[in-house]
Amino acid sequence: MKKTLKISLSMMCTSYLDLREDLDLFIKHKIDYLHIDIMDGHYVPNFSIGIDFCKAVYTYSRIPLDIHLMIEEPDRYIEIFSRFENSIISIHPETCYQPLGTIQEIKECKVKAGIAISPSISFESVKHLIPHLDMVNVMTVHPGYAGQRLFKPALMKLRKVSGYIEENDFGTEVEVDGNVSWRNLPGMIEAGADVFVAGTSSIFERDGSLEQNVTRFRKILDKAGNFNLNEN
Ligand code: DX5
Ligand code: ZN
Repeated sequence: MKKTLKISLSMMCTSYLDLREDLDLFIKHKIDYLHIDIMDGHYVPNFSIGIDFCKAVYTYSRIPLDIHLMIEEPDRYIEIFSRFENSIISIHPETCYQPLGTIQEIKECKVKAGIAISPSISFESVKHLIPHLDMVNVMTVHPGYAGQRLFKPALMKLRKVSGYIEENDFGTEVEVDGNVSWRNLPGMIEAGADVFVAGTSSIFERDGSLEQNVTRFRKILDKAGNFNLNEN
C-alpha cells in the first residue's frame, strides 16, 4: 500500500531571527507539519517554545502543527493547543493517569490524537492505545534535546509499531523523531515510518542552505514513496 511520506519540521531548531523567511520557504515547499516541541522543565530538563510561538507560526503559515507535549499533566493544556485547526497533539502516555481518557479528550477537541513513546517506553506497554490514535511518534532519542545521536534499539520498536499498524490497517501515521539524519533516514523509511521530524541532523544542519536541504529531504521521501507504490 503506498504511503505518503511527510516532513515534520522541528521548529525548536529553526533560526528564530529569520523565522518569517524560513516560514515563507516552508510554505513554498508545502511542508506537511511544523513539529512543535513543548517542554516544561519537569518531564524533560529543558524549556523550548510555547503557545505564543505556536500562534505566531500557525497564523502566518497555516501549516498544521504537530504538537509534541513533553510535559507533565498534559490534560491541563489540551484545550488551548486544540485551537490550531488540522493539528495533531501527541502526549507521552506515562505523563497521564488515564492516557485513553486524554486521547479521547483530544479527539473531542476536534484535532488529531497521538502518543509519543520515548526509548524508555516499550511497544508492548502502549499497543492497546494504538487503535485509538491518528499518529504514533516513535522517539529515537531521549526526549528533551535536539542534536542527540540515534538510540539504535528504537528502530526495532519502530518496525514493530509500523508492522502492527500495517497488519491491522489502522491507518495510524507513524512518526520518527530524533537524529533523522541523511545517514539514518533510509533505515527509518525501511522500518516503516511515514512522518519524519527534520531537525539539526538534516534540514537545519550547517552544510547546504535551508532550501537545498528541504529539496534534498523531499527528493529522498518522494523516491522512497514511489518505490513503495511500485512494490505493491
Ligand atoms: C527531541 C526533539 C526533536 C529532534 C530535533 O526532543 O523532539 O525535535 O530531536 O532534531 P535532531 O534530533 O535532528 O536535532
Ligand atoms: Zn519532538
